[in-house]
Amino acid sequence: MSVRIAPSILSADFAHLARDIAAAEAGGADLIHVDVMDGHFVPNITIGPPVVRAIKRIAQRPLDVHLMIQDPDRYLEAFVSAGASMLSVHVEVLPHLHRTLGAIKDLGAKAGVVLNPSTPLTAIEEVLGDVDHVLVMSVNPGFGGQRFIPASVDKIRRLRALLDGAGSTAPIEVDGGIDLHTIRSVVDAGAEILVAGQAVYGTPDPAAAVQALRAAATA
Ligand code: DX5
Ligand code: ZN
Repeated sequence: MSVRIAPSILSADFAHLARDIAAAEAGGADLIHVDVMDGHFVPNITIGPPVVRAIKRIAQRPLDVHLMIQDPDRYLEAFVSAGASMLSVHVEVLPHLHRTLGAIKDLGAKAGVVLNPSTPLTAIEEVLGDVDHVLVMSVNPGFGGQRFIPASVDKIRRLRALLDGAGSTAPIEVDGGIDLHTIRSVVDAGAEILVAGQAVYGTPDPAAAVQALRAAATA
């Protein structure tokens, strides 16, 4: 199975984003994962559309934008026009998820749905045919550098079976605590897009870290 490595710039040096994104890309990053937090859905506040637009100017790889915000519908267009190729929204805040996924696709981006660790797979059962990807949170969202929740592995396995059963080839993305020790277990369970923040930017050589993650994922 081919995997895609998506370094999360949440752990990069925000004063040197261009340098840090180039380093991840030099190591073979497939996507650049951008964490948007509003201080409401999650306790942390990070970046908005103007910064995504600036990143889009310098990044070579597609932007994978993860919206951890209370009212994503208000901002879909702003993030897609800023340069998001993939836009992921949390099921926990969306009473009309089907409509939101359609709106993202109409804007021309890949539409993904995200599940918190405590959110059951049944929450997305009715939209399995509508998602371009599903993001499984393997930590509680809000911060980089947290510990991987081991129960995520079984959740990924069950999600892959659910998607396959629905005839969907949508890839599973995993976010939180992915490092050289945990990456293989989620890939074996069926994850294809691996987000990593600290495991890339918490090291002295982000390019080498991306290469090492890919090697560990496919070894
Ligand atoms: C967490 C974010 C993640 C975070 C992952 O809320 O969604 O993308 O940057 O960081 P690590 O890989 O350090 O757990
Ligand atoms: Zn994320």
